[in-house]
Amino acid sequence: MNIVITGGTSGLGKELTLKFKNQGHNIIVLARSVDEKDGIKCDLSNENDIKKAFKEIGEKFDKIDLLLNNAGYGISGATELISALEARRIFDVNFFGTLFCIQNALPLMRKGGKIINISSVCAFFPLPFRTLYCASKSAVSMFTNCLNMELKNANVQVSAICPGDIKTSFTKNRVKNFETNERYGNRIKSATDNIDKNESKRMSVQYASCKVFKIINKKKLKPQYIIGKKYKFLYILYKIFPLNWFIKATNKFKGGKY
Ligand SMILES: NC(=O)c1ccc[n+]([C@@H]2O[C@H](COP(=O)([O-])OP(=O)(O)OC[C@H]3O[C@@H](n4cnc5c(N)ncnc54)[C@H](OP(=O)(O)O)[C@@H]3O)[C@@H](O)[C@H]2O)c1
Repeated sequence: MNIVITGGTSGLGKELTLKFKNQGHNIIVLARSVDEKDGIKCDLSNENDIKKAFKEIGEKFDKIDLLLNNAGYGISGATELISALEARRIFDVNFFGTLFCIQNALPLMRKGGKIINISSVCAFFPLPFRTLYCASKSAVSMFTNCLNMELKNANVQVSAICPGDIKTSFTKNRVKNFETNERYGNRIKSATDNIDKNESKRMSVQYASCKVFKIINKKKLKPQYIIGKKYKFLYILYKIFPLNWFIKATNKFKGGKY
């Protein structure tokens, strides 16, 4: 199979790249820091980079069998104080990067294939001071569900995989905004520290990548998967209880202290 993986240079994407390589597939990684023997340098916030990368792929290979949109990053801070540039950039990478990769890959998937978008449980669980990351992943998840229907008769299976917290460089790479004002006081730092202190309790990247790998290898994909037992349980609560209750409870435990 010809497999395109975005963000295969670190964390979840790197583990999945190794797993698919071991299965004997041809892997093309798209990332900013990729070695040229392993893929194509590409900043996913740049539409031209994406176009060029897929043009090169189309010239080398007759088809793409699997597109794994994995690249992404996080951002934290008070929504009021996040710059327009930072707000646009996270959507450029997490959402538009995914969209443009799909638009450029589909002409190379004429006979069918799979498109997997790595979303997050943050697509449905709201978190304070993580607004833009949650919104970008909600956009990815809804977009995936809609696309699933559009491509139903085209033999292209589309699925969103939503992992809970995984031990990768994600926290280190998250854009952290600690700027505050009288409205938030110390809440931004306190809420951020509260979530980050649980770093050791996160799923290992080996566990998460095994689960994702198993899903991708399934013959028939469901539209959405959640990775992590705790998050599957929380998802049931999220569906049962009113949103108001869920928001109140999350804010109590994750909202930070003034
Ligand atoms: N870790 C978690 O707790 C967690 C939970 C749920 C969902 N996720 C999602 O899982 C995916 C993988 O994250 P991870 O945990 O493996 O994080 P990571 O270790 O920080 O890896 C992120 C990957 O994305 C690539 N990337 C970031 N910005 C890019 C850009 N502008 N252009 C091209 N590539 C870019 C990076 O490659 P370069 O730096 O080489 O460009 C890197 O390979 C992300 O979509 C993330 O949102 C993570």
